[in-house]
Amino acid sequence: AGDAQTKPVFLGLSRKRLKVGFWFFMWYLYNVVFNIVNKKTLNMWSYPWVLSTIQLGVGALYVSVLWLLGLRRRPQVNGKLIRSLILPSLFHTIGHATSCLSFSSVAISFTHTVKSAEPVVGALGSALFLHEYYSPMVYFAMIPIIVGVALSSISELTFTMAGFLNAMASNFAFVARNVTSKVSLGDTKKDASLTAFNTYGLITIISFFLELPMALLFEGLPKVASRIPGIGAGTVFGYIAVASLLYHLYNEASYGVLEDVSPLTFSIGNVVKRLAIILSSVIAFGTIMRPLNWLGVALAVGGTLIYSYAKHMDQKKIDAAKKKAA
Ligand code: 3PG
Repeated sequence: AGDAQTKPVFLGLSRKRLKVGFWFFMWYLYNVVFNIVNKKTLNMWSYPWVLSTIQLGVGALYVSVLWLLGLRRRPQVNGKLIRSLILPSLFHTIGHATSCLSFSSVAISFTHTVKSAEPVVGALGSALFLHEYYSPMVYFAMIPIIVGVALSSISELTFTMAGFLNAMASNFAFVARNVTSKVSLGDTKKDASLTAFNTYGLITIISFFLELPMALLFEGLPKVASRIPGIGAGTVFGYIAVASLLYHLYNEASYGVLEDVSPLTFSIGNVVKRLAIILSSVIAFGTIMRPLNWLGVALAVGGTLIYSYAKHMDQKKIDAAKKKAA
């Protein structure tokens, strides 16, 4: 099987490389289009709690239909598995809702600049809660990221404190989701029916039920009507549906990538993805960016690339030292 995976099949590329390339492409494509459609939806229908809940609901429906029709292998669900998914799902819900709240109040280019600092939040979280530390170089690499986010914040024309804090909260929530998934799914990994897609499907279903009461409490059941004159309910409905489907598909595609690449490649891929979203959203929405704002983006994104690499090298050293000591 290893041979079949690595043998060149097209333009000198192996099946495995083609598969990773395909998921990378879909991840970026779905993500860029999602962000634009999602922001347009929020511009006409500003209900971030309800919209983010519908997005989870559509994803839940999508995977359930695939399982029911036998188009995707059904996961073996039991009480233990559900319990182990509660915490990751809760953090997924918080991360998703706060992202959507941020998107609704500031330019999406700004939300994604703040979100590019997610790996740094991860390292701070590891230091504070897990007492895992890295070499000074790694912390040094955080400086341009923090300066970049600060520069973007002071020069962003659409800046609001809520937009900034929600984007930052989503960073903490997604870091917590990744840590809790690793911890609680550690022993369920052996189950072959629990593929990455199925795990994400189950997290989506649980997250939907967790967010639903909050959405009803904060925003109730809003009418599907545009606040922009001249846009009909059908258009709003269409945008909600497309944004929701794309939300699920881009997350699935990211799991497709994650399955075959190292964590370093994935986090670099994720930062480059944010740059693609920032650039395409600035073009799509004609966002006014001052030079300081661009400098902020460059420092935040460039700094995260350097930071990811520094952390990777550090981890390699730590692993080698551990091996030597054993
Ligand atoms: C969400 O709505 O959950 C955000 O778009 C998440 O953004 P990310 O997947 O790029 O971190």
